Amino acid sequence: MDKLVVHGGSVIKGVINISGSKNASLPILAASILTGEDCIIRRVPDVSDTNYMIQILSALGADVERSSGTVRICCADIADEAPYELVRRMRASICVMGPLLARKGRAVVSLPGGCVIGDRPVDLHLKGLQALGAKVEFEGGNITLTAPDGLRGAEMDLRGENGPTVLGTDNVMMAATLADGITVIESAAAEPEVLDLANFLNAMGAKISGAGTRRIVIEGVKELHGVEHTVIPDRIEAGTFMAAAALAGEGVTLNRVNRDHLKAITAAIIKSGHKVEFNEAGNSCFIERGETLQGVDLTTAPFPGYPTDMQAQMTALLVTTPGISVIRDTIFPQRFMHCAELKRMGADIRVDNGNAIVSGVRRLSAAPVMASDLRASAALVLAALNASGSTEISRLYHIDRGYEHIDEKLLMLGAKVERVQV
Ligand code: EPU
Repeated sequence: MDKLVVHGGSVIKGVINISGSKNASLPILAASILTGEDCIIRRVPDVSDTNYMIQILSALGADVERSSGTVRICCADIADEAPYELVRRMRASICVMGPLLARKGRAVVSLPGGCVIGDRPVDLHLKGLQALGAKVEFEGGNITLTAPDGLRGAEMDLRGENGPTVLGTDNVMMAATLADGITVIESAAAEPEVLDLANFLNAMGAKISGAGTRRIVIEGVKELHGVEHTVIPDRIEAGTFMAAAALAGEGVTLNRVNRDHLKAITAAIIKSGHKVEFNEAGNSCFIERGETLQGVDLTTAPFPGYPTDMQAQMTALLVTTPGISVIRDTIFPQRFMHCAELKRMGADIRVDNGNAIVSGVRRLSAAPVMASDLRASAALVLAALNASGSTEISRLYHIDRGYEHIDEKLLMLGAKVERVQV
């Protein structure tokens, strides 16, 4: 099990490329189940979550090749039961459910277990698939969906208590591409990753309109075909490096970004006093640490609001920003595990009922800390960058789930980090 040692206090500067989006790649890889032809997907980040998805597809019978960020998948002959041993490792495996059901008329996927960032139900996924005519049964920890006579288009509202569902929208959208008739998803998730999936499906021959808005309309087609697609840049990886540059940077340029996906993150970083400038094309940005800094109030919200997946990293930036910051997570109100670890490094944070109240301190000091989930571990790496002393972050496998070569990218920027095998 690897750990990361971050020697605090070094300045970061230079240029890096942002990888393809993990959260766009996962449903897009799963969507290749919808055709028996070759799908070629570029800029798939080399992270363990995409590896798990590829292992699941291989176990289902897909022929998969991966090299230099390009994945070729052919699902000519595919089974309908996703193996528990692989599915249990990653909650996002649930997004094979919609495409398997549409292609095979049956899908068996194990019910995702608990998750450290909060209770993560799948009721909205099932509500949508049931509206399309699927029969749902639970047995032995598995969900079995059947639609022996095919799926039928339907109108549905997928809004949950905490807003829309990203993977739920994806699952229903994928299933509806091959349903008979028209499906309307109201209160759909509008995240850029949903739009990227819709673009992938449309290139396969699907008829989807409205993706990227709260109302998606899908006209079912008889079959889909093979496609080539390049995944969008990872806005959360970009945001994480923007926060790192604000914390410890003397001028960092991030290439291969999309300005339109980064508006809320950019606004928060500028509000706390740092400089963020995009080039005219909006695909490269320059971040420099500011001189007059101030705390900010942040509330996470579905896109285009401030993303929950950037909540922990922004908290890491704000713990050493003068003044009071109040951070509220409305999507995952329990997603504050990083705060206990940041407090071990000297942060002044009070977590109360879905809010973190942060009083900025001058500097953190190194301490052995433990990563609890993907974004929490990124927050610890950021905090360690300008803490005094060397911080050891254990359970690094969490960060490897979603950040491609994070230690190498930080080294390229001049940070002093070491990956140590224990
Ligand atoms: N929800 C329900 N019922 C459902 C599904 C979701 O009540 O059937 C609730 C959730 O409990 C949560 C809210 O709806 O309160 C939103 O959850 P959502 O379904 O949108 O989450 P997801 O689709 O499972 C994706 C990302 C997460 C990201 C969330 C929110 C992927 C692979 N995962 O998860 O990313 O936090 O959307 O934006 O796309 C991460 O990358 O670190 C990560 C956790």
